[in-house]
Amino acid sequence: MKKDYSIDEHLEFPVENVEKPVITNLSERDAKVVWHPFTQHHTAPFSIPIVRAEGVYLFDENGKRYIDAISSWWVNLHGHSHPYIAQKVAEQFLKLEQVIFAGFTHEPAVSLAERLLDILPSHQAKVFYSDNGSTSIEVALKMAIQYFHNRGFEKRNKIIALSNGYHGDTFGTMAVGAKSAFNAPFEPFLYETCYLPVPVAGQEQEAVAQMKKNSKMLMKSLLLSLSR
Ligand SMILES: Cc1ncc(COP(=O)(O)O)c(C=O)c1O
Repeated sequence: MKKDYSIDEHLEFPVENVEKPVITNLSERDAKVVWHPFTQHHTAPFSIPIVRAEGVYLFDENGKRYIDAISSWWVNLHGHSHPYIAQKVAEQFLKLEQVIFAGFTHEPAVSLAERLLDILPSHQAKVFYSDNGSTSIEVALKMAIQYFHNRGFEKRNKIIALSNGYHGDTFGTMAVGAKSAFNAPFEPFLYETCYLPVPVAGQEQEAVAQMKKNSKMLMKSLLLSLSR
């Protein structure tokens, strides 16, 4: 039997003085069938039903306008429903929407790589495409690990990360990110990471000292792996 969600139970906003959104049929249907990221569904209000967006604005089912000040989680940097982007995506989808990228290639992939390399530092030679933020970090970690594996240093496997970072919610990215309530249940499954303090103003010396300590430890493990 599906849980029957009562509206009142979910109307409590955690922040005071925030205008409550009008709950619509879509919000209610959503609450019955969808889990949202970073959301505690027992305490969260109903989700705001967005039907269209333009530039910085989102519009809900009742025509109410919201400023999307977080660019929908930092994704819509050029504004929503940008006519140029929408047109290019539509044109491309009608021509070739996707093709297996192992053993095949296509013009947009090559052109984008060329243009990215034009603006990246000169030691960046090639582009590897990934799907999103988390998997791009996974790819970077795997590249570093595989590089040393291929060169015969399989034991060179310590990862150093800046403390208090957020890199995503896949297992590899949780392992190098800050530990929080969101990833606590997965802690036993996360590999060990050496954290360095972020060298922000007032913390530079601590960051350098920690870096030296870690490099000594890493040098030791490298020497051990070389003498195996
Ligand atoms: C710095 C940083 N790295 C990685 C990610 C994860 O990206 P995604 O949500 O696309 O997996 C985020 C997402 O907010 C981020 O801010």
